[in-house]
Amino acid sequence: METNHTESGASRRAFLKSTGALGAGLYLGSMAKPAAAAGEALALDGGPKAVTHAAAAATKWPLYGDDEISLVTELLRNPSYAPVAEFEEAWKAFFECPYAKAHCNGTNALTSMLFALDLPEGSEILVPDYSTWFPVVPMRLFGLVPVFVDVNPRTMNLEVEDCKKRLTAKTKAVMPVHWFGLPCDLDDICAFADEHGLSVLEDASHAHGARVNGKLIGNWGRMAGFSLQMGKPLPAIEGGMGMYKDQGDYERAVTYGNYDLPNSFPEDSPYRKYQGTAFGSKLRIHPVAAILGRLQLGKLAQYNADGVAQMTRLNERLNQLPGLAAQYVRQGIDRVYYSKNLFFIDEAKAGFSREKAVEALQAEGVDVSVYTWTLLHTYPLMSEAKYWRHMPVLPDAVPGCDQANRQAIQLPYWTSDQPELVEQYAAAFEKVWANKKKLA
Ligand SMILES: Cc1ncc(COP(=O)(O)O)c(C=O)c1O
Repeated sequence: METNHTESGASRRAFLKSTGALGAGLYLGSMAKPAAAAGEALALDGGPKAVTHAAAAATKWPLYGDDEISLVTELLRNPSYAPVAEFEEAWKAFFECPYAKAHCNGTNALTSMLFALDLPEGSEILVPDYSTWFPVVPMRLFGLVPVFVDVNPRTMNLEVEDCKKRLTAKTKAVMPVHWFGLPCDLDDICAFADEHGLSVLEDASHAHGARVNGKLIGNWGRMAGFSLQMGKPLPAIEGGMGMYKDQGDYERAVTYGNYDLPNSFPEDSPYRKYQGTAFGSKLRIHPVAAILGRLQLGKLAQYNADGVAQMTRLNERLNQLPGLAAQYVRQGIDRVYYSKNLFFIDEAKAGFSREKAVEALQAEGVDVSVYTWTLLHTYPLMSEAKYWRHMPVLPDAVPGCDQANRQAIQLPYWTSDQPELVEQYAAAFEKVWANKKKLA
């Protein structure tokens, strides 16, 4: 069987090499027939497919190399927990943050963060309706109340104006999530939170290494939780990280899930006495994941830069087409990607339906599908009193979420250098858009 590390190492080297070439603007001449396909018949009507390049491993992720394999092998020879502290030290240096705790997964990094908040029962936390249940369902364990908020339909991220409408005397925190690598407007969210005395808790699971106004996400809030699950920008196969600015937050979060660590706190810490019992969970990261996390952290900036450069080349072309727009990236935001490249189709401006566009693009060989997200407030659990000490606050209307769900499509995120695919995908879209009268 082929070894993944050899294959991924080779494709990574090729990616880096050709990213340089592409950056220098060398690729168009050698490669392609830009938009030549536009005048051709649609594949739907029997014309030639625009996408002919086969790249089986284009979306392969994670990419582990000989360095990961050799350190994991060494751990198997000499088992130890040392990689955990090494990973946390590397994380603190990368994020320039005072406290970090590695967890067995992102869900538990976020759950420990909720415990660390130490809020009175019934306290409300603003969460986007367009989010995952992972940090929301555990709120019920602590008597906290998720209040579902609308998102901006152009970004799929938390809408501050809607947060303002859902504020009550019980609102204590807001938990933005950076949807598929696009950071929220953290400056606006933090200004809003400051004004109302709320804590900002970042669910940073989708955007490791992204920045707002030059500052890394995860560093904006009082605390942040990251998933390191294998699809994420920083993959440890399974793992999580919590980041804290305040020593008390750190000690509470650590004591929630680490029976063995309270003795490591300073003598005067009120949490030292919980050595042994902790608070009932055991959430330590596996040392194998800690090794993978630390080594991937060292590669994160380059992976992100390469991926963003490639997606930017495609997205800038696609953004030219009427009624087609990628997730909107505001000035000052440095986004990253993982897994998907999300777009919106405004049917009125495009002149044909999203479904028709997807059908025509799929016929061209594009890996595209309609994208809809199940809104959190619609899950049965959110309405079942039996499971909540204080019921979630469900929204009357979320027009931003609805619009995003009506308009979104998903394309793949390529994790290796794919200049042929960039060119052929752009040509496929241009061809479909050039045939809009037929699709109307
Ligand atoms: C936004 C978000 N938050 C939290 C999580 C939970 O992380 P984990 O799967 O590592 O527990 C995920 C995982 O997919 C996620 O996408």
